Amino acid sequence: MNDMKPLPLDPPYDWPGYGSTRLRFPREPLVALPAGAFDRPGPLVPGGFVHAGDNDLTRHGKTLPLGERMVLAGRLLDTDGRPVRRSLVEIWQANASGRYHHPADNHDAPLDPNFQGLGRTFTDDDGWYRFVTVKPGAYPWQNHPHAWRPAHVHFSLLGNAPIQRLVTQMYFPGDPLLALDPVFNSVPDPAARGRMLCSLALETGIEGVALGYRFDIVLAGTRSTPLGP
Ligand SMILES: [Fe+2]
Repeated sequence: MNDMKPLPLDPPYDWPGYGSTRLRFPREPLVALPAGAFDRPGPLVPGGFVHAGDNDLTRHGKTLPLGERMVLAGRLLDTDGRPVRRSLVEIWQANASGRYHHPADNHDAPLDPNFQGLGRTFTDDDGWYRFVTVKPGAYPWQNHPHAWRPAHVHFSLLGNAPIQRLVTQMYFPGDPLLALDPVFNSVPDPAARGRMLCSLALETGIEGVALGYRFDIVLAGTRSTPLGP
């Protein structure tokens, strides 16, 4: 008989290796939400919030941004593998040099005036989303000596109620920084960590222009994408 408990799928709120979790994890018992709270429709995404072209991060400047262009596409799925339709998917990321277009980022790497690193779109009727962007660079952070985040893209998923918002980070296969990254490794189960990796999918790209990567997101169940890191 195997009485080993399965490893949790999502990272703990407090993870000593990831220093800033110490400042923001809940120190009081969590408040239980009333039954049905997750189903209560909240303010939906206001009309006009998502514009045509918001999913092409390479077209937000006067010219193309620097870096390796890529198409990042995948499906948003529920526990049973059914598509989650018309759901807001947002991404944010560093530029190809590993710097965010944000005043709090003081990394000594160049900003790219043609890349802001923020995109949004709705999933279609089959749960598909698609972004055109550039591959983000790795960047240093002050978590520990010689700490560098592996290249990653942040995802936010908004259901049909505000308390359904979920966030995660997507990584690239084969990145040697993954084994050293406390954020990636805050997800206890190695198999679950693997579900935060995209896969090379050349057919998803644009011939002669952009590489293609596929990243499906499963919201719940034993095959779910880790959420919260
Ligand atoms: Fe980041």
